[in-house]
Amino acid sequence: MVNTITVVGAGNVGATTAQRLAEKQLARRVVMVDVAEGIPQGKALDLYQSAPIEGYDTRIVGANDYAETAGSDIVVITAGIARKPGMSRDDLLATNAGIVRQVCEAIRTTSPDAIIIMVSNPLDVMCYVAKRVTGFPRERILGMAGVLDTARYRAFLAEALDVSVRDIQAMVLGGHGDTMVPLVSYTTVSGIPVAQLLDRTRLDALVTRTRNGGAEIVKHLKTGSAYYAPSAAAVQMVEAIVRDEKRILPCAAWLEGEYGMSGLFLGVPCKLGRRGLERIIEVELTAAERAELARSAEAVREPMAAVKL
Ligand code: APR
Repeated sequence: MVNTITVVGAGNVGATTAQRLAEKQLARRVVMVDVAEGIPQGKALDLYQSAPIEGYDTRIVGANDYAETAGSDIVVITAGIARKPGMSRDDLLATNAGIVRQVCEAIRTTSPDAIIIMVSNPLDVMCYVAKRVTGFPRERILGMAGVLDTARYRAFLAEALDVSVRDIQAMVLGGHGDTMVPLVSYTTVSGIPVAQLLDRTRLDALVTRTRNGGAEIVKHLKTGSAYYAPSAAAVQMVEAIVRDEKRILPCAAWLEGEYGMSGLFLGVPCKLGRRGLERIIEVELTAAERAELARSAEAVREPMAAVKL
């Protein structure tokens, strides 16, 4: 357990994240910060009143400024606008870059030793904004995308194969967008390569559905985007850090030569422990997968260049 975890943004993703953090007792205090007056305070009170029923001692506090967040161990950033039908994650760029910049300026001064988990979209570019604004080392800025994209892929595979989701091991790399790279060659069902269990056409269809996994939900919801799985994914990353689990999870990390690339955030296999990013693992890729990863990196660099800081 750590002392304080701050969740910035008390909307759908932020409030669900706070709930999951408390239910897992990952911190003594969870502070929710939002610009909307009364919303973080009201939701925090509601969540704290569920503590006697759920049996957690985590204090949940809501605020409109950063005084309560001082000295946070971990900050999860979910502030920003969410997608509506027909919007890509990149359509959020200008608005969310301004919001994330303001949030990171506050964190830099109030919680200079925090580990940042970025959730706001477009994810890989928002990680870059956080790095530029805070100047934190790469060990302390991670983006939540790969865990979510992999969970979607694993869920679809489990459904298609009629097996437990727990037995599907997989890894989705690359940017958090249409160019993400599900590694079919590393997908196994209890160690059995998935290609032995599912034909190529059905596998390709699942990969396509994974790429559009977020958009499929936006189309249903109409007024916003996914939040149950995104919050679960962010909290899995937080848990790996708080409990020093040394888990290998696909996260957006700042590349310094890994996979032959530098100077951008991209989804790669990361070892997470108490210090944050403890290692990036380079796996062997087929020529096709390497080309797909390079294409995905280009799709991240374009909005990165457009962002004004
Ligand atoms: N500081 C703090 N909170 C802010 C700020 C700011 N500068 N600007 C906006 N917010 C808050 C809003 O007031 C709102 O409560 O961010 C919250 C966003 O909540 P929702 O609209 O419910 O959006 P949500 O579904 O939670 O998604 C948030 O996560 O998954 C990504 O693409 C998604 O970028 C989006 C983000």
